[in-house]
Amino acid sequence: MDRAMAQKLAGQAIEAMGRAYAPYSGFQVGAALLTREGKIYLGCNIENAAYSPSNCAERTAFFKAVSEGERHFSAICIVGGKGGALTGYTAPCGVCRQVMREFCDPEIFRVVLAVDEEHWQEYLLKDLLPMGFGPENLK
Ligand code: THU
Repeated sequence: MDRAMAQKLAGQAIEAMGRAYAPYSGFQVGAALLTREGKIYLGCNIENAAYSPSNCAERTAFFKAVSEGERHFSAICIVGGKGGALTGYTAPCGVCRQVMREFCDPEIFRVVLAVDEEHWQEYLLKDLLPMGFGPENLK
């Protein structure tokens, strides 16, 4: 991904992180999901007093986008930290990797982990979810 796009996604993910609802863990996460057409959907984690209904930032972004009719994605940028402090890279949980696998080509889809607009790491989904189970397995 080019530097300008990574910076843009990181900035938007940080903005989304500011809307995290994480009163239980205190760990705030933001995500910026880029469609193949260049539109960006944002997500934050949303926790719940009953714990298990909590939703990760990445899935919030995916579910917003898919519910608006989007099906084709090229990348997601993720930021997170305790109390919103961006001190390290936040990798997506296994459940979120599986949701990515449903809608994204693992050979092409990029997962960008950022700490700020100048520092990020980039991975392909296939490297974060090797030998994944996907829609084609059910055909
Ligand atoms: N969380 C995310 O939103 N995304 C991740 O990639 C890791 C974890 C959230 C879930 C929960 O609200 C909090 O971070 C602590 O696990």
